[in-house]
Amino acid sequence: METALSRTYAAEFDPQAYLQTYYTGPDAEDRFVTRFMVTALQTMPANLLTLELGGGPTLFAVATLAPSSREIHFCDYLPANLEAVRRWLAAEPDAFDWEPYIEMTLEEELIPVTSAAVAHRAADMRRKVTRLLRCNALDTAPLGPHTQKYDLVVAQTSLDAMSANIAEWKWVMGNVSRTLIAPEGRLLVSLVSGVEGYSVGDKNFPVLPLTVDDVYQGYVDAGFRADTFQIETMTAPDARDYVGLISAVAQKAAA
Ligand SMILES: C[S@@+](CC[C@H](N)C(=O)[O-])C[C@H]1O[C@@H](n2cnc3c(N)ncnc32)[C@H](O)[C@@H]1O
Repeated sequence: METALSRTYAAEFDPQAYLQTYYTGPDAEDRFVTRFMVTALQTMPANLLTLELGGGPTLFAVATLAPSSREIHFCDYLPANLEAVRRWLAAEPDAFDWEPYIEMTLEEELIPVTSAAVAHRAADMRRKVTRLLRCNALDTAPLGPHTQKYDLVVAQTSLDAMSANIAEWKWVMGNVSRTLIAPEGRLLVSLVSGVEGYSVGDKNFPVLPLTVDDVYQGYVDAGFRADTFQIETMTAPDARDYVGLISAVAQKAAA
C-alpha cells in the first residue's frame, strides 16, 4: 500500500544526507539502542533467522545482530538505501564507514576493541547478510514473494516513521506480527519520542509521537505476550530534532 508518507520517502529521502546528519559517530543515542539490543539478544536463542525492517542506509544494527543470527535479511522501502548497504557489504571504497559503530558495539558487548576484533565482526556482518530486499511494511506481503516468518524482526526508528496515526501504528504492528514473525518469535523496535518529525537538510519527515503506553498496547494488540514485554527510554542529550528514544522487545505467543 502506498501512503502519503511512503511517497514522501520515495521522493525526498537522501541516504547520504541522512547518514551525514545522524551517523556522524556513535553518540549516546546509538549506545542506548545498541545496549538495548545487546541485552535483549542475551535472552534469545542462538542462530536466529533475523530481518532488519526499514534499515535505511545503516548497518549499525547488523553489527549487533550478526553474532546471534545464522542469517540476516535486510529490507527497506527505498532501493537507494539498499544500494548504500550493498556498497558496504561489497567493501566498495566509497561506502560509508561503519567501523566506529562496530567498535562501539564491541565495547557494549565488553569485547576488547582490537583491529582484529573489528575486522572479524565486519566479516561476520558481510557473511550473515544474505539478502537485501525491497519491502513495504504496509503491505500484507511486506517482502513480496520473499515474505516469510522470522525468529527476530528488528525495526529501528522505522515503524514510527511510516505510521501517520495511532490506528496505523497498531495496524502496522499487527501486520508485521502476522506476516513476518514466527510463533514465539520476537519483535524489537526503537522509536523516537516527543516530536512529530525529523529533518535531513531542508527536507522534513514526520514521525508519530508514541508514548510508552502506546508502544505496550501496540505489542499486546498485535499478539505479543505482555509478560515478555521489555521497554527502556532515554532522553536525548545531544543536539537532535527529537527529545528521546524508546526501545522495546517482546515475544509472540506460540501458535
Ligand atoms: C528514520 S529512517 C530509519 C533508518 C534506520 N533504521 C535507522 O535507524 O537509522 C526510516 C526508514 O523507514 C523506511 N520506510 C519508510 N516507509 C517504509 C515502509 N512503508 N516500509 C518499509 N520501510 C519504510 C525509510 O525508507 C527509512 O529508511
